Amino acid sequence: MKIAFYSSKPYEKSFLEAANAAHELVYLDARLSGATAELARGISAVSIFVGDDASAPVLRTLYANGTRLLALRSAGFNHVDVAEAARLGITIARVPAYSPYAVAEHAVGLMLTLNRKFHRAYARVREQNFALDGLMGFDMHGKTAGVIGTGKIGESVCAILRGFGCRVLAFDPEKNPACEALGVQYVPLVELYAMSDIVTLHCPLTPATRHLINAAALTAMKPGVMLINTSRGAVIDTRALIAALKHGHVGSVGLDVYEEEGDLFFKDLSAEVIQDDVFVRLLTFPNVLITAHQGFFTREACEAIAQTTMDNVTGFERSGAAGVPETNLVSTKLLK
Ligand code: NAI
Repeated sequence: MKIAFYSSKPYEKSFLEAANAAHELVYLDARLSGATAELARGISAVSIFVGDDASAPVLRTLYANGTRLLALRSAGFNHVDVAEAARLGITIARVPAYSPYAVAEHAVGLMLTLNRKFHRAYARVREQNFALDGLMGFDMHGKTAGVIGTGKIGESVCAILRGFGCRVLAFDPEKNPACEALGVQYVPLVELYAMSDIVTLHCPLTPATRHLINAAALTAMKPGVMLINTSRGAVIDTRALIAALKHGHVGSVGLDVYEEEGDLFFKDLSAEVIQDDVFVRLLTFPNVLITAHQGFFTREACEAIAQTTMDNVTGFERSGAAGVPETNLVSTKLLK
C-alpha cells in the first residue's frame, strides 16, 4: 500500500524504514492542511502527526482524492474531525500506547528542572559563575502532587512521584486500581487544586477538558503552585495562565505543549519573527520552562510508533477497518 507521511522528519525515517514490510513510503515535509491535502492525491493511506490539521474540509479533500485510512502516529486525536471521518467512511487508526514512560519521565524532568533550576545552573557554571543565589529549590519528598488523568502516562507519573516520597492526589472520572495500589488518593478536583504543591496534567484534550485549567481553577490552586502540562496545550487557558503568572499566584510552569503550537513546534524558527504574542509573552517569564512537544521523543517510543503505524496500515490493507486492532481504532465512541 502507498502511504503518504505528512510532517515527516529525518529522525523518523529510519524507524519507519525498519518497521516497513512492503509498503511504498512517501515522505512529505509539509503539514497536512487545506493547502497541502492535494499532495496525497491517489494515495489510500495518509499518516499524520500531532501538528497536522485533519479538520472536516481537509478530510473531504483527502476522501475525494482516494484516501481511506488515516494512520495517526500519535495517541491523541484531537486534531482530527472524527465525526466527519466516520461520515465519509475514512478509517482512523492511532498508536494508543507507545511508551508512557517517555512522557511521564519528561513531565518529571520538567518538575526537577523548574525546582532545582538545572537550566540556569548549567548556563551559570559555563560562565564560571558559581554563586547559588536564586537557585534554591525544595525537597520533592513529602510534597503533595496532584495528577489529573491517571491513564497510562498518569499512572507512570504516580509511580515515579511515589518513589520520590510525594503524597499523590489524583482526579480522573475512572479510577485506576494500579494507582490506588500505589497509595494514590482520588479526590475531587477542588480538593486536588487546594492541596497540591505540584499539579500535572495527563488527561486527553476533549470538549470536557478544553480550558479545564482556567482562571477559576488557577485561583483555586495553592499560591506558588508548580503547574506541568505534557498533555495538550488547550487543556490550559493560556491567557488566564499568563495573568496568574503576572500576579505571582502560580509559582512555576513547565509546558511541553501549547494551545497554538501547530504554527510553531517541530520547526526551526530561530531566524524568524514570531507573530504569536501570547507565546512570546510566555517565553519572557523566568519561572516558565517550555519544551517543544518532545515528551514522546525517546528511541523506544519512536520504534513503537513506527511499528504500530505500519501494523495498522498492513491490517487495513488486508481486511479494512476489521484488520486494525479494536484498541487502535478511533471512533466517535471515544468522543466524551
Ligand atoms: P490514556 O487514555 O491512557 O489516559 C487518559 C486518562 O485521562 C484516562 O484515564 C481518562 O479517564 C482520563 N480523563 C478523561 N477525561 C478526563 C477529565 N475530564 N479529567 C481527568 N481525567 C480525564 O492516555 P495516555 O496515554 O495516558 O495519554 C494522556 C495524554 O497525554 C494524551 O491524550 C495526549 O494528549 C498526551 N500525550 C502527550 C505526549 C507528548 O509528547 N507530550 C505524547 C503522548 C500523549
